Amino acid sequence: MLHLHSTLAIVLLLALVVAILITLANYAGNKPFNRKIALIGLISAHLQLIIGFILYFTSSRGFENLSGETMKDSVSRLYTVEHPIAMVLAIVLITIGYSKAKKIADPKKANQTVLIFYVLGLILALSRIPYATWSILN
Ligand code: HEM
Ligand code: HEM
Repeated sequence: MLHLHSTLAIVLLLALVVAILITLANYAGNKPFNRKIALIGLISAHLQLIIGFILYFTSSRGFENLSGETMKDSVSRLYTVEHPIAMVLAIVLITIGYSKAKKIADPKKANQTVLIFYVLGLILALSRIPYATWSILN
């Protein structure tokens, strides 16, 4: 599960960057909204959410580790509190962006909506990745 979560993190971050760039190009060029590309980002995010929840209740760095001591240690707090909360919020932002855009008829507005919500979600996700201990980087 950790390996899957670790690898899917890369897939998700790339999917978000690609969705943002293509949507930006469509926005700037007054082209139609590309729902498929936004959907790839949404599905990657939802998959990562499920795997993250499974990890949270199986890993020693998850729920099991919640305590006052955890709050005093920045690495433990990142894994047990900050990472899960920030990531759930990031995925909520991406889901809201996709759902709103899907219902908007004006392509310019739909592109703009996905851009705003996906960029905010990506920034939030990037801010709470455990880079120092991520198996892929170490
Ligand atoms: C945007 C979505 C997410 C991304 C990009 C992401 C990314 C990562 C990365 C890169 C790691 C480090 C993996 C490693 O050490 O190899 C990690 C670990 C972890 N993530 Fe996530 N994550 C996301 C969502 C979530 C969610 C929603 C939860 C829980 C509700 C969660 C719970 C955890 C836990 C508990 C670990 C530590 C597991 C362990 O080391 O035993 N993640 N995540
Ligand atoms: C904790 C688990 C999950 C939650 C809470 C969740 C939540 C949601 C919500 C609220 C929507 C509505 C978006 C809209 O209004 O269009 C949605 C849509 C969707 N989700 Fe999830 N989801 C979860 C897991 C998954 C998984 C595991 C997948 C598949 C890999 C997935 C794929 C999709 C797809 C394909 C859509 C609809 C896209 C469309 O409307 O075209 N979700 N999800």
